[in-house]
Amino acid sequence: MKNMEHLNRNDWFDRIAKHNNNRQYKAMFSSWVGGVVTDPALMLVPIDDHMVHRGDGVFEAIRVTAAGPYLLKPHLERLFASAEKISLKVSLNIGEISQVCENILEIAKIPDESSPGEGMLRIFISRGFGDFSPNPYTTQGSQLYIVAMSFTPLALEKYEKGVSLMISKEPVKPGRYAQVKSCNYLPNVMMKKEAIDKGYDFAMNLTAEGFVTEGPTENLLIVNSAGELVAPKFDYTLRGTTLVRTLELAEKLSQGMVSRVYLADLSVDDLRSAREIMMVGTTLGVLPVTKFENALISGGRPGPVAQQLHELLGRDMGLSYS
Ligand SMILES: Cc1ncc(COP(=O)(O)O)c(C=O)c1O
Repeated sequence: MKNMEHLNRNDWFDRIAKHNNNRQYKAMFSSWVGGVVTDPALMLVPIDDHMVHRGDGVFEAIRVTAAGPYLLKPHLERLFASAEKISLKVSLNIGEISQVCENILEIAKIPDESSPGEGMLRIFISRGFGDFSPNPYTTQGSQLYIVAMSFTPLALEKYEKGVSLMISKEPVKPGRYAQVKSCNYLPNVMMKKEAIDKGYDFAMNLTAEGFVTEGPTENLLIVNSAGELVAPKFDYTLRGTTLVRTLELAEKLSQGMVSRVYLADLSVDDLRSAREIMMVGTTLGVLPVTKFENALISGGRPGPVAQQLHELLGRDMGLSYS
């Protein structure tokens, strides 16, 4: 590069301010800096944090509605479970992190009473900074970063028309890693890319035995040909907070809509013959799949169970459906 400029501190930050000005990012807490900032240009992490160069960290994304952060406790419990599985020490406990979340949301003014938009909390616990090695023992200790941002739900049209799902060629993550919500999401990213490149909304992969798993950041749920509500076992997928809650809420489905609710090993044929297929996750709620590979599901229209579960979940979140 010919004209590489050597910038001073002020010029450097001025340039960052031009690029990093996403107005959706309302506030960030950083244990690295030891405080909260509301200027998106300053929402940075150190490049030698092992979360950046090795993916050595864990994270959570939590939806915030007028009723507050949704499923905060299960999300934080999963965050700590993920951290424990990779021997990552967290200096705060669940109660203290909840308190930090509450304080950041207050600073971020989410939800804003004048315009009751939704929000999202993005929490990261990293191995920490100190060097560029893969050695987890050489850092200055784990760090906590939390971003509070505004959130726009997926367009209504997607729920009215349904989405498409394909089978990815990406190998599945080994069970231990499927159950850690780590910052190392390369297989998930490649799966998303594969879906977009092939003109699909979502992709999911299969275990070596041919069992159906999950999407890049969402679980799967079906109403099988016998009218049962079934999700793939959590042995090889992430234990989704939204899926777990949705399965609880399924008790409130209208009489006779599903005959039984359980987890099982599901095959591609189970999906092909399913009455309904749904993608379930924090940002989506319950999203109906109307096309699986080349075939239409539930006649190419969202099924009744998906619609009712999405409504039940919305009410549970404190969203109003008229
Ligand atoms: C791999 C994977 N599966 C499933 C989910 C859904 O989990 P939740 O409902 O807790 O968002 C996520 C969430 O990000 C995910 O990353």
